[in-house]
Amino acid sequence: MKIIMLGAPGAGKGTQAKMIAEKYGIPHVSTGDIFRANIKNGTKLGLEAKQYMDKGLLVPDELTVRILLDRVAQDDCKNGYVLDGFPRTIPQAEVLEAELARRGEKIDYAIDVEVPDENIVRRMGGRRACLSCGATYHIEHVPPKKEGICDVCGQALVLRDDDKPETVQNRLNVYHEQTQPLIAFYQERGVLKTVDGTQDMADVFAAVTAILGT
Ligand code: AP5
Ligand code: MG
Repeated sequence: MKIIMLGAPGAGKGTQAKMIAEKYGIPHVSTGDIFRANIKNGTKLGLEAKQYMDKGLLVPDELTVRILLDRVAQDDCKNGYVLDGFPRTIPQAEVLEAELARRGEKIDYAIDVEVPDENIVRRMGGRRACLSCGATYHIEHVPPKKEGICDVCGQALVLRDDDKPETVQNRLNVYHEQTQPLIAFYQERGVLKTVDGTQDMADVFAAVTAILGT
């Protein structure tokens, strides 16, 4: 099963993608997590991506597409995957579609997690992220067991640089201009599904599993 998560920054794509990955036994592939891991390790890719990410801009398509295609070519992606944060532009979606078609494959579901901008701004300020393992928390909705420490790997939690309020607004603008057109793109291909992302995480997940089946 090949699934794409669509939705604004902070809509809960990562939260739902992790739950999908666990339930259906497929890898969770997040371009944002790949970039953040590279930034943390000080790689050349990380240095380049950071310049864009800190401003709330998209990392250029050439770079992003290469990384994503490398990742989904790995063995663990053979039986499918859930993509979180990719594609984010029409050109990215077209490259992915062409690459899949070359192998006789296609995307099965594009799930749009709908959340209005007002809710997003409130959510982001409360998010805390682990840059080591990619786990995310929310100071009210999903607090870690021990304040400021990741439950999974014990590292310190941080407020992502791009979760500062002025950058969140930029990310929302970029989303509306460059990423939202993907909703029509996948609707035309008959694979678009929409869930109400303002509900509790468990209710959003129930809507997702109703689409994907058990
Ligand atoms: P990325 O890491 O993908 O960030 P994003 O899309 O901006 O999305 P977020 O991770 O912020 O939000 P999310 O939807 O995953 O929400 P989450 O589940 O954490 O990308 C970062 C940057 O990398 C981009 O800006 C860009 O520069 C670059 N990049 C990445 N991919 C790229 C690409 N393909 N092309 C070009 N550039 C790319 O939830 C948010 C918070 O809300 C959490 O605290 C969570 O606990 C809480 N929450 C979740 N669900 C609920 C709920 N139902 N109710 C209450 N709280 C909830
Ligand atoms: Mg995310």
